[in-house]
Amino acid sequence: MKYRYLGRSGLLVSRLCLGTMTFGNKDWGCDLEGSRAIVKAFVEGGGNFIDTADAYSAGESERILAEILKDYRRDELVIATKGFFPQADAVTARGLSRKHIVEAAEASLKRLGTDYIDLYQFHGPDPFTPVEESLRAVDDLIRAGKVRYLGCSNWYGWQIARANGIAALKGYEPFVSAQHLYNLVRRDIERDVLPACAAEGVGMICWSPLAAGMLSGKYRGQNRPAEGTRHGHQASIVENRYWFDEALKLVDAVVAAADKLGKTPSQVALSWLFGDNRVTAAIIGARRVEQVAENLEAGEFDLPAEIRDELTALMPLKLGYPQEWTALNGTPSLDKGEAHPPHTVRMP
Ligand SMILES: NC(=O)c1ccc[n+]([C@@H]2O[C@H](COP(=O)([O-])OP(=O)(O)OC[C@H]3O[C@@H](n4cnc5c(N)ncnc54)[C@H](OP(=O)(O)O)[C@@H]3O)[C@@H](O)[C@H]2O)c1
Repeated sequence: MKYRYLGRSGLLVSRLCLGTMTFGNKDWGCDLEGSRAIVKAFVEGGGNFIDTADAYSAGESERILAEILKDYRRDELVIATKGFFPQADAVTARGLSRKHIVEAAEASLKRLGTDYIDLYQFHGPDPFTPVEESLRAVDDLIRAGKVRYLGCSNWYGWQIARANGIAALKGYEPFVSAQHLYNLVRRDIERDVLPACAAEGVGMICWSPLAAGMLSGKYRGQNRPAEGTRHGHQASIVENRYWFDEALKLVDAVVAAADKLGKTPSQVALSWLFGDNRVTAAIIGARRVEQVAENLEAGEFDLPAEIRDELTALMPLKLGYPQEWTALNGTPSLDKGEAHPPHTVRMP
């Protein structure tokens, strides 16, 4: 397993993070014993970074994780959770107000059976709460010893940059990580979120790195999700996200690259992410322990650059304006410096 610094922080995390959205999920997940086996394989494979959220299986994911954490030394693991989604009927029990953040974090601590959360993440942006209020709420939790680091998830690039600017001005703890959808099929964050994160020293933690299983190659030859699979259960979400001709062709190319390298398609798709130093970790989800065992190999395996480039080129991302303008006009006129500024995300 290789480890990367979480953004500009001094925290070293395994570049594979274990996602726990499956824990306690009755339709496409696993029970306590299945989850325990998954965590065991992950930790024995060198993983130290585990991601959950209060919203996963209505709190059951955190409760199951608490049971499993009893088997390990707490200080050797980096536990990340999130808050934002409604947790009760009260109108206040949602979003990123100070009231909800503090209550949600306290409830997560209780469910997780731990004294502190290593990484607390805002699960989504809240357009109605001033960002100063949300940042200050977590700053207080950090100073109270209940949280170590702050991250966000599903935020726009400008929101991340603005929040970290405000945090710097006010002396609050900034975001050190962002958790976003990123995989070979969906590269939207390359337009704006990834550049914003790099400029702010925010490490990217990629969710659905296998396009919820599609990049394992197991849905080849199907033109829509089959009943009974993860994709089948979540068809209303994944169909729009992943089921289009270019994506299905790309999966064929991933399978061909894997055959050439003597790897599996999942290992190739995961390793593709690590070719970008703005990425800190990929969050692998699993229903069965064999999937973790297979995916763990990507913690060590680096994809040859030419194969990475070939796969990237298969589905060119239209960056659009203003990148078009900058490519035409901006870079050539500003390119006279001795060297480009070094990357602000701390490199492994
Ligand atoms: N912040 C957010 O908004 C957000 C959103 C989504 C997820 N997440 C986080 O990201 C984690 C991962 O998301 P994800 O589950 O969508 O990730 P993913 O890695 O793209 O998909 C995982 C699913 O793919 C299948 N799979 C995994 N390895 C496989 C293999 N080697 N061969 C065949 N199938 C395999 C399994 O489903 P089946 O066996 O059922 O096919 C597994 O549940 C979550 O657990 C959660 O922590 C965060």
